[in-house]
Amino acid sequence: MLYAWRDSTAGVHMRLYITGGTGLVGSNIIRLARGRNDIEIIAAQYGPEPEWEVDYDLDPLDMADTQAARASIQRYQPDVVIHCAAILDHPWMDQHRAQTWRATVEGNLAFAQSCAEVGARYVFVSSDWVFDGRQPLVDEESPPCPVLFYGFMKAVCERDIMGVAGLSYGIGRLAGVYGLNYSSPSLLRKDNDVGFDLGNYVVDQLSQGLIAEIWTGPKINEVAHPTLASDGAEMLLRLAEHDENGIYHCWGSEAVSRLQFAYHFADTFNVDRSLIVPVPTDPAVLDRYRHINIPFRIVTSNESTCRALGRRTYNVRDGLRDFKAQWDAFHGPPPQTPHP
Ligand SMILES: NC(=O)c1ccc[n+]([C@@H]2O[C@H](COP(=O)([O-])OP(=O)(O)OC[C@H]3O[C@@H](n4cnc5c(N)ncnc54)[C@H](OP(=O)(O)O)[C@@H]3O)[C@@H](O)[C@H]2O)c1
Repeated sequence: MLYAWRDSTAGVHMRLYITGGTGLVGSNIIRLARGRNDIEIIAAQYGPEPEWEVDYDLDPLDMADTQAARASIQRYQPDVVIHCAAILDHPWMDQHRAQTWRATVEGNLAFAQSCAEVGARYVFVSSDWVFDGRQPLVDEESPPCPVLFYGFMKAVCERDIMGVAGLSYGIGRLAGVYGLNYSSPSLLRKDNDVGFDLGNYVVDQLSQGLIAEIWTGPKINEVAHPTLASDGAEMLLRLAEHDENGIYHCWGSEAVSRLQFAYHFADTFNVDRSLIVPVPTDPAVLDRYRHINIPFRIVTSNESTCRALGRRTYNVRDGLRDFKAQWDAFHGPPPQTPHP
């Protein structure tokens, strides 16, 4: 069921307040929202200003400053808050736990309580890493079992939200997000890091005829549900317009290994698969992550989410087809490397 927005007679139907709008997911939500004339956008902004033209309100905010977060929600009186902002550097988080907790857990609670106060719906972006990756199949009802600080904080945030009286909320979990950061393209994370942000790295390498090294071994999220950022954004926007409380798995419908995913990239971009080379995880990274557990294999169902939100998420092939279209439209088609 859809939420009824308070301003429907005035032309603007939804006043959307979003955090993390310069990020990969947030920029895709803003892009979608901009394409609709019934959404007014306010974006909390933490780091550098977005690189695209800003035709919406920007509100400088550090989510660790809970008073500022509350004041901002009170000031803008949004209909919906989508809280995408997060710290994602795991070794940094591990070394700055108090600071990260303040920004992540206390920031989330401040947003959730403020939403309850102003009657806004709250969409919190969570992660598949609330699971440990040791169950054969998990779904929206499965109990979380985090094995790293990030997953633990996300699980705590989820519980805190459920405890806020009178709050309308949707917890939208994402996994292995890849895609274009439309707001700040120069911030593209091209590194082959432990997260599943392989997309831009693989395409970048392949389009130059270079080998794409895919790590295998320990400290790797070996199997996950890759999620095209625009696909996850569409689900989160639907969740914003939904009126039931709960947990929703907004990720891609299919689980694959990192290597299979990279091969799919090669096929989609019509590049020779021999440029995809499995290698052992970089020893320097293993060292940086020596105290940090990474869920190895998360396979899930998102059937009940798709039913509730009235839309199926992409499988890997369809997600990549759309990603290629986005890439070509944004960067131009990559030069083809000849097949041997
Ligand atoms: N990427 C994935 O594979 C993945 C998987 C599962 C779940 N998720 C979740 O999806 C959400 C979006 O992730 P993403 O991939 O879009 O991340 P991202 O590209 O790194 O963006 C994160 C955003 O958080 C903002 N931020 C960081 N610290 C902040 C602070 N103290 N106050 C306010 N804003 C702050 C950053 O702002 P600046 O750019 O201005 O610094 C950035 O816009 C996160 O909640 C993440 O946990 C992501």
